[in-house]
Amino acid sequence: MAPTILITGASQGIGRATATLFARQGYELVMIARQKERLEEVAQEIQKLGYAKPLTMSCDVRDREQVDASIKTALEHYGNIDVLVNNAGIFASGTVENFSIDDWHQIIDTNLWGYIHTINALLPHFLQRGSGTIVNLSSISGKMVVPYLTAYSTSKFAVTGLTESLETELKPRVFRFVVFTQI
Ligand SMILES: NC(=O)c1ccc[n+]([C@@H]2O[C@H](COP(=O)([O-])OP(=O)(O)OC[C@H]3O[C@@H](n4cnc5c(N)ncnc54)[C@H](OP(=O)(O)O)[C@@H]3O)[C@@H](O)[C@H]2O)c1
Repeated sequence: MAPTILITGASQGIGRATATLFARQGYELVMIARQKERLEEVAQEIQKLGYAKPLTMSCDVRDREQVDASIKTALEHYGNIDVLVNNAGIFASGTVENFSIDDWHQIIDTNLWGYIHTINALLPHFLQRGSGTIVNLSSISGKMVVPYLTAYSTSKFAVTGLTESLETELKPRVFRFVVFTQI
């Protein structure tokens, strides 16, 4: 049986490239983003290359119920998920005083809570199987401070902390567990 990968933000940029790369490696794909039409375009491109048709789902990762429902659907469809790639993210720059609380929420809710929602939904499956891989896209802004990126950097430092904490906690408990990637 082919391994399965779930990628958030798979309709463009790094998520789209990751989806194509893993299709080439023989993975079954679950592709998530808010705009279903753009996901479908990428899925059709992958299919035209001769690979299995990915499962695409419109899902806002900020919404816990949407994430839970999408992961339930993916597990019913494929039976397993082997790899989770948390990639859906938004970038924002500017002077910090110009960031409203709503702006802060957009960034933290997407870049941090979006990752927590998928991890929380998939962890029971990974723990039950005794294996799983979580890839969290952070940023150089999650490792070092850059001016005018305060909200983005806050979210990415949190992703770095989340990832390193998860790895420390889960690696000894679960065979073949967390691998993480930072850009
Ligand atoms: N590009 C870089 O140079 C760079 C550098 C360092 C780190 N990163 C990180 O790498 C990741 C990808 O970056 P990128 O530049 O490839 O991004 P991008 O081209 O802007 O694509 C973002 C993807 O995320 C989806 N998305 C955004 N908000 C979402 C939400 N609330 N729910 C579900 N999907 C959502 C978008 O689709 P919809 O709009 O349809 O939802 C899209 O598919 C991000 O986490 C980013 O912080 C990027």
